[in-house]
Amino acid sequence: MNFYLTDRWQTMDKKEPSRILIFGKNGQVGYELCRTLSTLGEIRAIDIDECDLTDKNSILENLNGYRPTIIANAAAYTAVDKAESERELAFKLNAEAPGIMADWAKKNHALMIHYSTDYVFDGTKKEPWTEEDKPNPLNVYGESKLAGDINIQDSGCNHFIFRTSWVYGARGKNFYLTMRRLLQEKDEIKVVNDQYGAPTWCRTIAEASSQVLSQISSPLLRFDEETLNKLSGIYNLTSSGITTWYDFTNAIKTKLITEQFCKLAEILPVSTANYQLPASRPLYSVLKCLKISQIFGIVLNDTNDTLYFV
Ligand SMILES: NC(=O)c1ccc[n+]([C@@H]2O[C@H](COP(=O)([O-])OP(=O)(O)OC[C@H]3O[C@@H](n4cnc5c(N)ncnc54)[C@H](OP(=O)(O)O)[C@@H]3O)[C@@H](O)[C@H]2O)c1
Repeated sequence: MNFYLTDRWQTMDKKEPSRILIFGKNGQVGYELCRTLSTLGEIRAIDIDECDLTDKNSILENLNGYRPTIIANAAAYTAVDKAESERELAFKLNAEAPGIMADWAKKNHALMIHYSTDYVFDGTKKEPWTEEDKPNPLNVYGESKLAGDINIQDSGCNHFIFRTSWVYGARGKNFYLTMRRLLQEKDEIKVVNDQYGAPTWCRTIAEASSQVLSQISSPLLRFDEETLNKLSGIYNLTSSGITTWYDFTNAIKTKLITEQFCKLAEILPVSTANYQLPASRPLYSVLKCLKISQIFGIVLNDTNDTLYFV
């Protein structure tokens, strides 16, 4: 199936398939996007080897060279604690680079897909955060991601910013893989039990992104540029469950037991106050995903259901 982005009138008339440029192909979400978006058009997927996002010229060369109709940016600086001492680099990758892509998208009538984070919020709310809630990041990573969201919105390009949380998967660096290892190596591990969020499998994020793109390109719906512009914005996109890092670790342990690893560490709960890390984290960063379910009919499963497929 080819994918036609309906606001690129000139390509649509000629029935040329969309050209999708994926940044961050080796990351958790980027890797999955390469598979899920491949049915929607021609794909070019790149990572730091082909394009260092700290280099504006390199970004522009890649955009001008491929001339995508869709830019899918899954590249980011995601080391939350390290960002406290690498502020400039975090902002270059998470704020400036998406801004450059968005400006190009605006000038060239491309659509931009981007990913944001629950860490834009300060965690003080006691119920799930909506897209309209006011961000107030507690750490440099969250600040830099928020600046990226603003740069994309300010560019005026058509865009979907999917705000997700606690991303995990079977490859790359993530909490799930770290805990799997530690549970097998240690006698006991301490895990924070007072931060609430929704661990979200990277594959479900990529699949939902693909579903959104399928819907906006559907010949039945035929979204024109004005409609696409109205739909542009931030969409919360996380698993539907709520858990703590401690309870998530227990779920990972239960999964390991079913995989027949017998000698596993004991999991001890610890409060945020007693578990010092360079970056502060929100205590409650659950996101309300009503908007994406109402507009696109997309609801992700609970982590407890998806964890067994990873
Ligand atoms: N991870 C989470 O828990 C989480 C939570 C909420 C939101 N998000 C957001 O979701 C999106 C995807 O996250 P993820 O977990 O899939 O990220 P990830 O696994 O850390 O992947 C990030 C990608 O960016 C690339 N990258 C790093 N520095 C680069 C540079 N200078 N130039 C070009 N590429 C560079 C990395 O390449 P290398 O592998 O070569 O370094 C990697 O492929 C990001 O926008 C992130 O902020 C993530």
